[in-house]
Amino acid sequence: MTFEINAFVTTGVHGKFKEATRQVEELDPYEILINVLASGICHTDCRYIETEGMNLGHEPVGLVEAIGSSVKNFSKGDYVGFSYLQSSCLTCDQCCAGDDLYCENRVCYPGKGVNNGFSKNAVVDSRFSYHIPANIEPKYAGPLMCAGSTVFNGLYSSNLSPTASVGIVGIGGLGHLALQFANKWGCHVTAISTSASKKEEALSFGAHEYINSSDFGTPGFFEKAPKFDLILNTTSADLPYDDYIKLLKPKGQFLLIGVPTKSMDVNAFPFIGYELGMRGSLVGGRRAVRLMLEFAARHNIKPQVEEYPFTVKGLEDAMESCETYKARYRAVLVQDHKDDSKL
Ligand SMILES: NC(=O)c1ccc[n+]([C@@H]2O[C@H](COP(=O)([O-])OP(=O)(O)OC[C@H]3O[C@@H](n4cnc5c(N)ncnc54)[C@H](OP(=O)(O)O)[C@@H]3O)[C@@H](O)[C@H]2O)c1
Ligand SMILES: [Zn+2]
Ligand SMILES: [Zn+2]
Repeated sequence: MTFEINAFVTTGVHGKFKEATRQVEELDPYEILINVLASGICHTDCRYIETEGMNLGHEPVGLVEAIGSSVKNFSKGDYVGFSYLQSSCLTCDQCCAGDDLYCENRVCYPGKGVNNGFSKNAVVDSRFSYHIPANIEPKYAGPLMCAGSTVFNGLYSSNLSPTASVGIVGIGGLGHLALQFANKWGCHVTAISTSASKKEEALSFGAHEYINSSDFGTPGFFEKAPKFDLILNTTSADLPYDDYIKLLKPKGQFLLIGVPTKSMDVNAFPFIGYELGMRGSLVGGRRAVRLMLEFAARHNIKPQVEEYPFTVKGLEDAMESCETYKARYRAVLVQDHKDDSKL
């Protein structure tokens, strides 16, 4: 049976998209066809905004429309999503250890750039797709697929105790979810932001304290400032790292999630003197995404979203909101859907 895929693709003109269709002759044994209900916009999508012919988006959720001959874990009508890790070999040491994300043959977003989330439907590997809990609406589930997985995995892989003190830098799509996850982890949570206008919302998302990073320049600030076991940086800004490192407790960790534009210049002495650490973290493998979905459903964690229609214009507006840092806090394309009996 032939399926027609209806996608939005980049045109090579900054911020402009067009519709494109392609035919899929037959599903591979492990593939599923998904009708997309909602698809979030992540700042990582903006990196490809001037590349021509790319179908972007890695926060889609929808309903299964058809399944391949070997698919065991999904049926037609199931409510599912997919994320940043699109495939791995399933047999190498990393895959066998549960570190599928670090498989040497992994395929991560955007893959070949033809089969992603800004699309009315998509054909994906069922083994890298996820059942979405029924109590999470599509517009809220979409942003969990990347933003939620990434910050959950950052916290999970940091082996945080509930007594830990956590600073979340950058209150955007990832950051506002990180405040919610860290609060439910039981931690003491501080939002660190450049935007005074986000203070009240940051507190409502679960921050116990708010710091405006412009106060770093105030004399005596670092003597009085709270200190953190973990600082989770979700900005793509080239931060004054030495200042942030002053906010770590001994043995504290600085976690890089946002992608800076330049090489980082950091003073080594505090790392040696106080056994500090700095490491990076990439979205999440399959186990992390599953755990995240269960945790988010149990704790009613959901993004605050701006809804856009699932059209070329809707996507262009949503991308602009994300690219200009205006989104409060995640722009999401949302399909009108009449039958939600499966959700
Ligand atoms: N490691 C991973 O696996 C992974 C996964 C997803 C995304 N990312 C990356 O994480 C970053 C955040 O993504 P997002 O979708 O959350 O973005 P976003 O919604 O645009 O949020 C980024 C936030 O960073 C803060 N910011 C302050 N100054 C900035 C500056 N000069 N440049 C950039 N940001 C600044 C802003 O928060 P305030 O107003 O509070 O200061 C802004 O809301 C991006 O670099 C993205 O590519 C990484
Ligand atoms: Zn992303
Ligand atoms: Zn592998």
